Amino acid sequence: QLFTGYDEGLVRMEPGGFVMPPSYARNAEKIYRMQPRNDDVWLLTFPKCGTTWTCELLWLLQNNCDFEAAGKTGLTIRTPFLEMPYLSNKMQAMREMFMNVDKVEQLPSPRVLRPHFAILFASTSTARHYQVFIMQVVYVARNPKDVIVSYYFHHKLIKLHGYIGTLDEFAEYFMNDEVAYAPFFPHILDAWSKRHHPNMHFMFYEDMKRDLRGEIEKVAAFLGKSYSDEVMAKLTEHLKFDNFQKNESVNNESGKKMGAMNEDGRFIRKGKTGDWKNHFSPELNSRIDEWIEKNLADSDLKFVTEL
Ligand code: A3P
Repeated sequence: QLFTGYDEGLVRMEPGGFVMPPSYARNAEKIYRMQPRNDDVWLLTFPKCGTTWTCELLWLLQNNCDFEAAGKTGLTIRTPFLEMPYLSNKMQAMREMFMNVDKVEQLPSPRVLRPHFAILFASTSTARHYQVFIMQVVYVARNPKDVIVSYYFHHKLIKLHGYIGTLDEFAEYFMNDEVAYAPFFPHILDAWSKRHHPNMHFMFYEDMKRDLRGEIEKVAAFLGKSYSDEVMAKLTEHLKFDNFQKNESVNNESGKKMGAMNEDGRFIRKGKTGDWKNHFSPELNSRIDEWIEKNLADSDLKFVTEL
């Protein structure tokens, strides 16, 4: 096995059909029982689509753009991932770094939460349970070629995965829906089909790369927030890759000290659109093109793979 970090492998879960560690599957009910609030913002993403980046944006917009407060407390505490504490039995660091559901329930409003999985979309029963969309939902999509590369480096960095294979092998696992949070396409396509819902804001990583300020303004308008030009300029600067990579409250470098991450590599890694061109052989690229084409055959969703 090339994934050496999992204590019990991965399972395909119901409802939703998502691939997760069994320890998550055993605890999922706790998350499904959580009560959303109508002033919550839920950020939904497939991993590596720009979660951390967008999450910092959402938290700041919801909290008067208080940069000082943002700098004092790590993003994982300010905006909890719902599933993270349940991903491993043996990794104490996962439980220490991430807030469990009981604590999330106690957080004051307004909350910004970020479950990685498309629970709202994937299963009607779960969706009904969550009274879709009582809360505001922001969904960020990224082109799958860059997601594969980014997720590969993530798998090498994060001890939970402990991946020891090559990128080519990883891409095959990804396309076969054998990596955590797979399958990729139903996740995005479900969200895409609901993009016109008034409580849903669908956005692309590539658009944030192309026009960060413009995308920030769209999200602010969606959340009904308005800030001065000066604050918006500061926010844009704050979210630029070079500043973001250095910012210890968002860059997850603390995961190294806590034993959850390897020393080599960085969570805020490269931040480019089109990095796949540095990593894919022509053969791998054409297999991935075919896989994308097959999965988008019935959809008008189009990905931008280079800028
Ligand atoms: P790369 O691995 O391609 O660099 P997530 O937060 O969903 O795990 O996504 C991580 C990806 O978003 C990484 O992609 C990371 O570098 C990129 N990212 C994070 N902050 C960014 C920023 N400020 N600007 C551009 N990309 C950013």
